[in-house]
Amino acid sequence: MEVVILAAGQGKRMRSVLPKVLQPLAGQPLLAHVLASARALQASRICVVYGHGGEAVRTRLDGPGIVWVEQHPQLGTGHAVQQALPHLADGEQALVLYGDVPLIGADTLGRLIAAAGGERLALLTVELEDPTGYGRILRDASGRVARIVEEKDASADERRVREVNTGILAAPVARLREWLAQVGNDNAQGEYYLTDVIGLAVAAGVEVVTVAPDSVAETLGVNSKPQLAALERIYQSSIAARLMEAGVTLIDPARLDVRGELSCGRDVEIDVNCVFEGRVVLDDGVKIGANCVLRDVSVGAGSKVAPFSHLDSTSIGAECVIGPFARTRPGTVLGNGVHVGNFVEIKNSKVADQSKANHLAYVGDADVGARVNIGAGTITCNYDGANKYRTEIGDDVFIGSDTQLVAPVKVGRGATLGAGTTLTHDAPPDQLTVSRARQRSIPGWERPVKKKT
Ligand code: UD1
Ligand code: CA
Repeated sequence: MEVVILAAGQGKRMRSVLPKVLQPLAGQPLLAHVLASARALQASRICVVYGHGGEAVRTRLDGPGIVWVEQHPQLGTGHAVQQALPHLADGEQALVLYGDVPLIGADTLGRLIAAAGGERLALLTVELEDPTGYGRILRDASGRVARIVEEKDASADERRVREVNTGILAAPVARLREWLAQVGNDNAQGEYYLTDVIGLAVAAGVEVVTVAPDSVAETLGVNSKPQLAALERIYQSSIAARLMEAGVTLIDPARLDVRGELSCGRDVEIDVNCVFEGRVVLDDGVKIGANCVLRDVSVGAGSKVAPFSHLDSTSIGAECVIGPFARTRPGTVLGNGVHVGNFVEIKNSKVADQSKANHLAYVGDADVGARVNIGAGTITCNYDGANKYRTEIGDDVFIGSDTQLVAPVKVGRGATLGAGTTLTHDAPPDQLTVSRARQRSIPGWERPVKKKT
């Protein structure tokens, strides 16, 4: 099967420099959603007809099996499909999709293709309360599709028809080639209409069948930011429904945003206003507090992420306590039972089992052993302004508050660093290392008093 995706429209109503089909829905360009559905159908080729801003679209979404065809000038949907025809094989079926109709599902398309069966023309149609703006499906006395009339060309009677063309259709490539060669532009918009092939199919004795989508939302197009936001909500509520069916507790399904893939074990609980990006895996019993952002993160069983935590490209073991207000950056790998408290930032570091950094610390480019206690205000000074260096902290180390570890530096197993230490040389195992000045008290010292004038 050959897929043709029409994506040449300018999308003026988005009022954006970003081409319409690159506008994000659930974190992915609109066109990426359509490409995913097309790929799920095992298309032999996907022809994308692009126009305005096309190079950016191509750079962003190019991949194996995609043929990019420029349409210039843009003379209508029939003209757009015609641009793709030289790349399509006779003997195959063609499926026409739209780059700005992102929720179309592979199941609906599978039924459409089956209905076309390699010889018929199958149209995806829906009944709308308000059909304004759409092409209307006109049927003959026996109920068979006769043709499609565009709103702008329709009579008052024809406009009353509520069955509309979604634009999505499947037909044999060889037939489309014949019919499109005959389509003219003598109509209200002076365009070559793809919809005119329906009348031509009927005239040629080819059966035209219609299929309804699983849900009308699948056929909704995006022309403006309000429509984009409306589709985002539809998409998010379907993800929320799926998660809840799988047993996930969502405190409010209307306040969840998944912009990628979220997979959850049993008894996972997610509080309000969390955003999941990229690939996120939450194991059994994980609890995510309110207002967290997780991107490319895995969280082990029984771990809790408290509110306002921002976790990026991080692997978290089982039974950890993260946050509130924790920040983990790419390359963070936490073992089991690790605690990362408020205003702690960890980057490109491994922290082994049962270690804790509970308050106000920066751990960057470090290897932290097991059962280490990192006191409040501890900082790994990993950067000299030009190069980054690693800090190694052995098992069972205790680091007092307000300590700076000037990397590269090693702290031996079981060592204790006194509060306020600036560590510039390796600290031996099992000893107390402290670098602060000795405390003294001055007897008889008096506070200055304000001079009289
Ligand atoms: C089209 C259908 C109409 C249907 C409606 C569904 C035609 C003539 N009419 O109308 O029956 O009810 O879609 O939304 O097909 N495009 C190109 N190149 C062009 C023109 C359009 O690639 O030269 C693309 C656009 O980017 C868009 C799609 O085709 O994704 C539809 O174009 P648009 O002008 O929005 O079609 P409508 O007039 O809404
Ligand atoms: Ca139009």
